[in-house]
Amino acid sequence: MKSHGFFITLEGIDGTGKSTQLRRLVRHLRKQGYTVRATREPGGTPVGEKVRAILMGEKEELSALAELALFYAARAPHVEKVIRPALARGELVVSDRFNDCSFVYQGYARGLGSRTVRLLDRAICGPTQPDLTLVLDLDPRVALERALGRDSGSGTSRFEAAGIEFQRRARAGYLALARREPHRVWVIDAGRSAKEVEADIGRVVDEVLGASRQLSVVSRQFSVRRS
Ligand code: TYD
Repeated sequence: MKSHGFFITLEGIDGTGKSTQLRRLVRHLRKQGYTVRATREPGGTPVGEKVRAILMGEKEELSALAELALFYAARAPHVEKVIRPALARGELVVSDRFNDCSFVYQGYARGLGSRTVRLLDRAICGPTQPDLTLVLDLDPRVALERALGRDSGSGTSRFEAAGIEFQRRARAGYLALARREPHRVWVIDAGRSAKEVEADIGRVVDEVLGASRQLSVVSRQFSVRRS
């Protein structure tokens, strides 16, 4: 089922300020009159939040495959119950992480390979793929410091504890993805002030949404002319 809404995802290694930027982007879009459904992964549904708690709380080392299966277990109801219905209603969906994260973290950084991820992705996400992905890009050392700072007191999460080498691989994975799909994936320099990053994201999103609106007008005119 292809939808009529628009699906934006925010990605990036840990500690790039994604969640703050997502809140600001949602505010920016709502101001322009869009109906926006903001969501996040892992999570987004009651079952998804439970799986998130397992993934975030698990002290025991899980294999990359076990991790992948859990992320997709959380993603399935998220796609079915939240994302697809919102897109079908013509809404704008903005998600803090989505399937690119599995390709980059489990497929690339943890070495599982993209074929296994793709298998699950086809079955679970199918045609529900992001229309626009913003990758917040930051030196892993700076990102890790930010992530550790945010977690002070309670210790770092299992993922953040994966360390700088892991974050480096994940960053390389995101940059490779942006090179492969330059029309969908935009790299945003997250090493600047939150205000500058916010302005940059707003500019990219406005530009892409404007172009997509024009395209849908053209295709409507085209189908009217053809009928
Ligand atoms: P979270 O606390 O949401 O981190 P952030 O605020 O940086 O998004 O934790 C999500 C963690 O889960 C993050 O380290 C990335 C990881 N993750 C995967 O490894 N694969 C996935 O498919 C998803 C969605 C997340």
